Amino acid sequence: MLDDQYRLEVLGLPADLPPVAAAAFRSRLTRGTRELFDETGLSEISLVVRREGAPPQAQEHALDLDQRMSYFRVVPPAHDFSRLVLPPDTLEELHRAVDAVRLRHLVFDTWGLRAVEPHPRTAIGLHGPPGTGKTMIAQALAAHLGKPLLPARTSQLESKYHGEGGKYLTALFEAAKRADAVLFVDEAESLLSRRFESVGQGAEHAVNTLRSELVQHLDRHEGVVVFATNLVRSYDPAISSRLHHVLVPAPDRAAREAIWAAHLSTGLPLAEDVSPAALAETGDVVGRDIKRAVIGAAVAVARRGDGVVRHADLADALARLLAQRPPAGDQVTEEERAVVAEGLRARRNGG
Ligand SMILES: Nc1ncnc2c1ncn2[C@@H]1O[C@H](COP(=O)(O)OP(=O)(O)OP(=O)(O)O)[C@@H](O)[C@H]1O
Ligand SMILES: [Mg+2]
Repeated sequence: MLDDQYRLEVLGLPADLPPVAAAAFRSRLTRGTRELFDETGLSEISLVVRREGAPPQAQEHALDLDQRMSYFRVVPPAHDFSRLVLPPDTLEELHRAVDAVRLRHLVFDTWGLRAVEPHPRTAIGLHGPPGTGKTMIAQALAAHLGKPLLPARTSQLESKYHGEGGKYLTALFEAAKRADAVLFVDEAESLLSRRFESVGQGAEHAVNTLRSELVQHLDRHEGVVVFATNLVRSYDPAISSRLHHVLVPAPDRAAREAIWAAHLSTGLPLAEDVSPAALAETGDVVGRDIKRAVIGAAVAVARRGDGVVRHADLADALARLLAQRPPAGDQVTEEERAVVAEGLRARRNGG
């Protein structure tokens, strides 16, 4: 179940898939599907995924650079800064970071500062709670620079075969270079974090190798690279020192009001009584909650066959969403950690 409203059925999983792998798969799918529901207002989504032309995994090592590059696709940025609400400090930090990356050859090579700093900061690390706009920022930065975006997830860089991961990393950076794209690595924590705990020696070695290759790519790559994570404290120091860290905080009351206003100014038919200021009084709410509440309210109104969204529709949608949240302090237990580690180990060992 996604929640009260939606039901997720996954058909055709292989019977011998370890339960932890099936659970991890389901949880990723749930996250993506929920966003799709939220963004489209659809009541049913059928997803058929087929592997097209990809070789069986046993031949993975035989892929050449172009074939590996074809796993990564550039996309036009879906957002610009116009609807993004950020504290002035964060915005200023972002622009400073982009300029530092853009201008580093002038500053470090032409002006010789590489003599004092052989490893200038070459990438941007966005960190902050979920749903605060990190993915949106990566898009907006690309739009601002007039470049396409090349999104990648750490899981795309992992390989079933130790040592193969580095080849995907090379392909990723090469694809970004050829397309002159902003490279965006989302959910970066597993790639950047200090240690890969309890996954077994071989896998740990593979991840460490991947990480040092990443450092080399970062030092050589000339374009803008953006990492996003919810867990910045886990970053490896060698990587961390190469990033311009930018905190993307949860919005305060004024920011919530602006985010409500931005999401309501899209052409929705609004009743007179709709007040972003009043909606913003409800705290512990991030941008993603606001987006979901606005879409939820709009869909409810449309289903009712009503022509206008009232304040109560928005307040109700927000209340419903907050009521559905898992209880606060819902920490991952040691047992759950062990289950995840076991799943990773099984996956890496070809299980
Ligand atoms: N600061 C913001 N300003 C305007 N809209 C926002 C902001 N933050 C979030 N939103 C809304 O929430 C949606 C989700 O935000 P986004 O995906 O960028 O969050 P995120 O920080 O990348 O989350 P996660 O850590 O889960 O990946 C956006 O598409 C937008 O509609
Ligand atoms: Mg994101």
